[in-house]
Amino acid sequence: MQNFKTIAALRAFQKSCKDKSETLALVPTMGALHDGHLSLVKLAQQKADHVIVSIFVNPTQFAPHEDFDAYPRVEDADAAKLAPLGIAGLFTPRVAEMYPEGFACNLSITSALTNCLCGAARPSHFDGVAIIVSKLLLQSRADIAVFGEKDWQQLQVIRRVNADLNIDCEIIGAPICRDGESGLALSSRNAYLSDAERKSAGQLNVILAAFAGDIRAGRDIDAAQSEAKDKISAAGFGQIDYLECRTAQSLERVTIFNPKQACRVFVAAKIGSARLIDNMAV
Ligand code: PAJ
Repeated sequence: MQNFKTIAALRAFQKSCKDKSETLALVPTMGALHDGHLSLVKLAQQKADHVIVSIFVNPTQFAPHEDFDAYPRVEDADAAKLAPLGIAGLFTPRVAEMYPEGFACNLSITSALTNCLCGAARPSHFDGVAIIVSKLLLQSRADIAVFGEKDWQQLQVIRRVNADLNIDCEIIGAPICRDGESGLALSSRNAYLSDAERKSAGQLNVILAAFAGDIRAGRDIDAAQSEAKDKISAAGFGQIDYLECRTAQSLERVTIFNPKQACRVFVAAKIGSARLIDNMAV
């Protein structure tokens, strides 16, 4: 497994694949890898001849008060987890490689996709995601890139950016990987949880599934939502950024359930110092 640190080295590898008519898949991550990330890698391996995992904690997607400095950085442990999978390489650029001196470009997504859910709770977050993912896709010239449905809104934003900028990469969504016992969606931020908080956190997906079930059963969405919010608070969560039902692709608010329209429930809530998100189909 090679470790590419520069865009030039990454491009040279991509060119060697292209010369042999072999395909390349990219799995972008911020590291602190868990089984959710590894499931993306395994899916990528089924789809392309070579897989590269990028590890880059992207400063532009964190607001000044957020956890950029505290975000876990464990590159050696990450490399050890990836080594047995037999991927082609890692791309681990430094900040100055991705954002060279004088960097002045901004990519702003003005769409209904970004003014709700995490976009409303974290203004400018998706602009940061959009710029870094565009750069990674353009730098790697990957044929395909795999992203998790855990970050459903991010996945829709990335599809939009990829289409709008004609990046010509096939974007593949991978199912959410959950803890086998509690069903808690795996996340690098789960590392912030104490044992007690982890126990409470395990209730989030259960409450969300019940909310989805209520909607499917035709219950009044507002009533089901306020009941589910009470349950989240009772489970030990603090601030609930959102708990909502929205259409799956365009992320429009659903007030009356229509079984013919694919929709999902979304939640973001804080427990201790961690902000956890989850979503599932209704
Ligand atoms: P990160 O949070 O490290 O996640 C990297 C990828 O792993 C994302 O596509 C995310 O949706 C996926 N992922 C995380 N937890 C998952 C789980 N439990 N099941 C399935 N997939 C999961 O998302 C980012 O990094 C960044 O925003 C990034 C796209 C790399 C841009 O900086």
